[in-house]
Amino acid sequence: MVVGRVAVVTGGASGIGLGVSERLAARGDRVAVLDVQGDAARHVAKELEATGGQAVGLAVDVRDRAAVEAALDTVRERFGPIEIAVTSAGVDAGGAFTDITQETWDRVLAINLTGTFHCLQTVVPDMLAAGWGRIVTISSTSAQHGAANRAHYVASKGGVIALTKALAIELAPHGITVNTIPPSIIDTPMAQAGAGTGHVPSVDAIAAMTPVRRAGVPADVAAAVEFLCSEDAGFITGQQIGVNGGWYL
Ligand SMILES: NC(=O)c1ccc[n+]([C@@H]2O[C@H](COP(=O)([O-])OP(=O)(O)OC[C@H]3O[C@@H](n4cnc5c(N)ncnc54)[C@H](O)[C@@H]3O)[C@@H](O)[C@H]2O)c1
Repeated sequence: MVVGRVAVVTGGASGIGLGVSERLAARGDRVAVLDVQGDAARHVAKELEATGGQAVGLAVDVRDRAAVEAALDTVRERFGPIEIAVTSAGVDAGGAFTDITQETWDRVLAINLTGTFHCLQTVVPDMLAAGWGRIVTISSTSAQHGAANRAHYVASKGGVIALTKALAIELAPHGITVNTIPPSIIDTPMAQAGAGTGHVPSVDAIAAMTPVRRAGVPADVAAAVEFLCSEDAGFITGQQIGVNGGWYL
């Protein structure tokens, strides 16, 4: 069994991406933490190295194709070809449909969907060359069942689910699996901020409505990501793996 894969985690400086970075580093992967918050990404990488892991933190805005390509070249020079990609970089957004400006629509789609496209198109050639790869995108339950007052966010995450399914079929013959995790409420800075602006209920309120009666934590998502990025998960592709405490549609 191969240990110590090369993994890239976008949005790795906070929340779910941070939890995933910690989990993959702990199992021995060399982890590249990419985030628009460059200082935070570098700090996370230092912390991972302090606990015995191998990591690099890089400032990247996933909307910027050239920056994504340059960062991933740095990862290849440091660690070798990229074998695992987890795309957690994203932004939340709220507002009545009739109030959404084109500028906001474009920004949310550019980060959540096109940013995922940039990262995956840049890493997939490494995986094709190796005949092995694991991709996990982070989508949202809101795209599975719809949600009021967040049409741009929901549409962007619906696009992520569709992109995941399309790539799963296309890449399956090459030993590359592509799955998505659509979380429900995970207690992160994004979830707290969304409740703060009032376009989603508080974390505690959603936890009370969740069958397991708690909100998720980044480690819940990270555990599922670790499994999906394992050798054992090679027959699982194109799936929406709910990490949602039993949240039902
Ligand atoms: N927390 C939840 O309840 C929840 C639920 C469903 C889906 N999600 C999704 O999970 C993912 C992670 O969210 P989180 O809750 O951990 O939020 P978070 O805000 O804690 O983390 C998101 C990270 O993405 C980074 N980021 C934002 N824009 C970026 C850009 N342009 N380029 C690079 N990095 C960028 C941020 O700096 C941040 O570090 C997001 O895609 C989010 O939509 C979260």
